[in-house]
Amino acid sequence: MRPSELTVGPLRHEDVARCAEIEHELFPGDDPWSENSFHSELDGGNFYVGAHVNGELIGYAGLGLTDFESSVHTIAVVSGHQRGGVGKTLLRTLLAKADELGLPVFLEVRTDNVPAISLYLAHGFEHLGLRRRYYQPSGADAYTMGRPANRD
Ligand SMILES: CC(C)(COP(=O)(O)OP(=O)(O)OC[C@H]1O[C@@H](n2cnc3c(N)ncnc32)[C@H](O)[C@@H]1OP(=O)(O)O)[C@@H](O)C(=O)NCCC(=O)NCCS
Repeated sequence: MRPSELTVGPLRHEDVARCAEIEHELFPGDDPWSENSFHSELDGGNFYVGAHVNGELIGYAGLGLTDFESSVHTIAVVSGHQRGGVGKTLLRTLLAKADELGLPVFLEVRTDNVPAISLYLAHGFEHLGLRRRYYQPSGADAYTMGRPANRD
């Protein structure tokens, strides 16, 4: 994929059906989000972006926002496009929004999710804690991770 083929912009309600399919592919054992969940997220004052190549949705990411903090609600890249820099681009788009708002960023990640943990560690996140059996129905544990607010 040439970088010029990738576009990152606001996630739209038209993208939601494909998002739900991707969720089932990537999170089969961890209660993948339904189309309704995505519609609620888009209507809920959160910051969501989608990555497209030639009009096809290949990834998405969402940041929940409050007056005090932000949290990565989801980030996903379809398996055929992983390891091509798309996840990094999506995360950096979320972090730029958090920095613009001066908010710290928090998240949960499965303790066995090496790709995602590596991505977060490379972008200023630190381990904060452990949530046993956080994911259901798999029962997998989660790390909580955080990145301080950028006050520059
Ligand atoms: C996590 C995820 C979004 C990363 O997206 P991606 O497009 O493959 O990632 P990128 O190509 O942008 O890689 C960025 C960094 O992530 C890390 N990374 C990505 N894949 C990795 C892997 N298989 N092993 C180790 N580190 C990896 C590396 O730090 C990498 O930086 P580098 O290329 O300089 O080494 C993707 O693997 C994914 O969708 N996974 C399934 C869904 C998921 O687990 N989401 C996170 C929920 S918390």
